[in-house]
Amino acid sequence: MHRLVLALGVLLFLPRGQAQSVTFAHDIAPIVYEHCASCHRPGESGPFPLLTYEDVKKHAAQIATVTKSRFMPPWLPEPGYGDFADENRLTPEQIRTIADWVAQGTPEGPESGIPPTPKFTEGWQLGEPDLIVEAPKTFTLPAEGTDVYWNFVLTPQITGRRYVKAVEVRPGEKKIVHHANIIIDRSGWGHEQEASPGAGFAGMELTNRRSVFDPDDGHFLFWRPGGAPFVEPDGLAWTLDPGNDLILNTHLRPTGKPEQIRPTVGLYFTDKPQTKYPMLLQLEHDGNINIPPGVRDFPISDDFKLPLDVDVLSVYPHAHYLATLMEVYATLPDGSRKWLLRIPNWDQNWQSVYRYKQPLFLPKGSVISMRYHYDNSAANVRNPNHPPKRVEAGNHATDEMGHFWLQVLPREPGDHRRELDEALSRHTLEKYPNDFKAHMILSAILLSRAKPQEAVPVAEEAVRIEPKDPEAHNLLGAVLMPVGRIPEAIQQYQLAVTLRPDFVNARFNLARALAASGRYSEAVAQYKIIQAAFPDDPEIKAALADAESRVKR
Ligand code: HEC
Repeated sequence: MHRLVLALGVLLFLPRGQAQSVTFAHDIAPIVYEHCASCHRPGESGPFPLLTYEDVKKHAAQIATVTKSRFMPPWLPEPGYGDFADENRLTPEQIRTIADWVAQGTPEGPESGIPPTPKFTEGWQLGEPDLIVEAPKTFTLPAEGTDVYWNFVLTPQITGRRYVKAVEVRPGEKKIVHHANIIIDRSGWGHEQEASPGAGFAGMELTNRRSVFDPDDGHFLFWRPGGAPFVEPDGLAWTLDPGNDLILNTHLRPTGKPEQIRPTVGLYFTDKPQTKYPMLLQLEHDGNINIPPGVRDFPISDDFKLPLDVDVLSVYPHAHYLATLMEVYATLPDGSRKWLLRIPNWDQNWQSVYRYKQPLFLPKGSVISMRYHYDNSAANVRNPNHPPKRVEAGNHATDEMGHFWLQVLPREPGDHRRELDEALSRHTLEKYPNDFKAHMILSAILLSRAKPQEAVPVAEEAVRIEPKDPEAHNLLGAVLMPVGRIPEAIQQYQLAVTLRPDFVNARFNLARALAASGRYSEAVAQYKIIQAAFPDDPEIKAALADAESRVKR
């Protein structure tokens, strides 16, 4: 109130059109301390500190420029299209105040009036973690060249199940690591990608979902400079079991000299077990990304209808250099529109996870629509190709992508991830009717949801698309069993092991199916082949003994 009266008072005595007087002490320091200092201080990502009058004065003209263009502070979403926590945006008044201050010659004002420099927590932002895990080996980033996407595989040493409520990433030098993502790997997939143990591996974006039976963890574990780690509320902590790995996917930017990177991750545990099961849904249409050179507006779209009531907790838009405008909204069953996100000027350097201040409710039957636009002309300053060339979807930085991830929590209590998964894979098949993997996934989901009748034609379609794929024959066998088509299932398993003799899972299925149809001596022969490879496995031993005893009878 006091400030408003004062400002009005000054204004009254100024000729029309002339700005009121602005000082660092009174007007600029509060803006810079709140909106800039978190990154512009020693050890953080900003290229120079903005903590004192001298600091800010030195960069004053540049600050006026980058705030006016909204390059700084970096914040992509447009206000009014989703209400996000951690929003860091200047108001038009603040931008004008900065411009006025520079125009007036950057006066300091009374030194005693400068607010105290903000205090930041050094080191771990949430205090000492319960467990600190370090990348097994250092990665050396070359001095020059394009951005590098490097994956570190970290193995937390725990003796029993833990519930993780927060993860803090300390990537090392923050001027090099632009952002980082953690993927929970429960299958050992990450280590298999490494050329030597602990070496890590290259790759821009990854999924560890080797099998549809791996649960989706439903959490974004995203780090960017200046961002604070998020602490999950009770019931939403995720489960970490002994032997699980964390894949830390980092986006690194060469600095002109070789740099050594060895990140650490801090884990914060809670005793409150997981009772709520969010899921990450992905909208995308990479299959339609094929952008001729010179095209200024290339749109892609995806529309997904929700099979149940959900709360959207957070979202993560993702594309590479050519994307410009991103729009995502939901059309509710009553026809009304709810905006999820609008980014008018995408810049992949500032990509982030955005968490809603309040969960955004979307009722069953809502259609979520993603509309992304790409500019592959020379006029796009971010175009990595000079002159522009044709760009398709892919995992390299110069390929494109169009993804929109949503973290949703079903309203009904319990675990509804499979239901969402089924709807999503049906949706994938609508987009890609000849996609082999999508058929495999949908069939496996239907089987796991005890709908084998529906799973059979989907698995048959997978076999039709890839007749030489042993996994497909094994899956078809597995869905034929519960509907009682056992001779056909046996045929499928036989095809699977003929195509891949060391396919233990299929051979075990074959042996069991033979035993179930009374063909014990054939079952014994199959169990013996498996036992030769796994002599100490008690399950095989018991199954073999049982089949043998029935042969003798
Ligand atoms: C999230 C961290 C972050 C915040 C918050 C932030 N900056 Fe920056 N700033 C950076 C980084 C990183 C760069 C280097 C960008 C680059 O090289 O692309 C930068 C660059 C700059 C530059 C140099 C631009 C140029 O063209 O070289 C200026 C000036 C600047 N910031 C001012 C500000 C001001 C003023 C604010 C607050 C209103 C602010 N920044 C908030 C991280 C931040």
